[in-house]
Amino acid sequence: MASIKGKNVLVTGGAGFIGSHLCDELLLAGAGKVVCVDNFFLGKMENIKDALSHENFVLYRDDARNFGVLQAVMEKEKIQVVYNMATIPLNYSFFNPFDAYMVNVQIADTLLKLLKVGAYQTLIHTSSSEAYGTAQYSPMDENHPTDPTTPYAAGKAAADLMVHSFYKVLGLDISIIRPFNNYGPRQNAVGSLAGIIPATARRIREGGMPVVEGDGEQTRDFIYVKDTVRAFLLAYEKEESRGKIINLGSGKDISINDLLKGICDYYGYDGEWEHRPARTSDVRKLCADSQRARKLLGFTPQVDFAEGIRLTLDWYRENGEDLFRKEGQV
Ligand SMILES: NC(=O)c1ccc[n+]([C@@H]2O[C@H](COP(=O)([O-])OP(=O)(O)OC[C@H]3O[C@@H](n4cnc5c(N)ncnc54)[C@H](O)[C@@H]3O)[C@@H](O)[C@H]2O)c1
Repeated sequence: MASIKGKNVLVTGGAGFIGSHLCDELLLAGAGKVVCVDNFFLGKMENIKDALSHENFVLYRDDARNFGVLQAVMEKEKIQVVYNMATIPLNYSFFNPFDAYMVNVQIADTLLKLLKVGAYQTLIHTSSSEAYGTAQYSPMDENHPTDPTTPYAAGKAAADLMVHSFYKVLGLDISIIRPFNNYGPRQNAVGSLAGIIPATARRIREGGMPVVEGDGEQTRDFIYVKDTVRAFLLAYEKEESRGKIINLGSGKDISINDLLKGICDYYGYDGEWEHRPARTSDVRKLCADSQRARKLLGFTPQVDFAEGIRLTLDWYRENGEDLFRKEGQV
């Protein structure tokens, strides 16, 4: 079993939602250095304010697609392990499909080139359940066909194929983690790239109404972000994960209607909902089979949805004003 203790770790997208929680968890676990490379497309300084006060944390405001940038950072910081968390969220696919696709592929390409020449030793690459598309059977194990329905998801699936093929051909030290829908503190709350939970919380708090797209019976498998980052650490430590794609989910899917109802209950909101047409290419059902994570990582989520949604909304209640500030997002 490998140990993250004392290792120098680079996190691409470390100022984002999941990446920032991962940085905190790595610091807590005694990583030698935690080096965040984020271009702040959606990352926020608030997300890393705790990490920034830690002497082992280093921030580079830069682009993880750029080979020269990552090569220089890896050399200077003597990086051993990389967690690839950087992306541009799914909804960007409807604004700029080319970059929504390419960012996923280009960062994977850069990281593989650097791994191949020995600039670092281990890559933990992040996929997404969106790579599967709508469930053809449920729960969805890792043998479920991939059928991405958006450029974001296609970029994720393409990057996964590329990363996996490099593992097969070159035997590089790589694991691929495929999270289902994450929620928790720090998820982006504003603009068209907001997560549904903080976006709905914001609407209700500002006197608006929840928005449901389509019939609301589409389902997602939600996993609390702190469970996710615990699994990411295990993915490095348990070398049985190398060369594997591993789902991270709760194994239970929840409809968007039920999700919105839960948020309304939290705020005591019993008003109208705004109904909008279904989102183009929306996935109808996602539900994880998590047996492989259990078997290879010894991982099961500890926070159930009722507790996780309360923790999340409590956090937005306490920290929301700044995060709900409107920014110039697409
Ligand atoms: N949030 C989810 O529900 C979910 C589900 C499945 C998979 N994932 C995956 O988990 C990872 C993290 O997602 P997240 O929800 O935290 O997203 P996020 O948007 O909150 O974070 C991504 C971060 O990457 C940064 N970034 C974007 N382009 C970059 C570039 N070229 N160079 C450097 N940094 C760049 C952004 O500024 C942001 O801080 C992603 O790979 C995502 O695909 C997320």
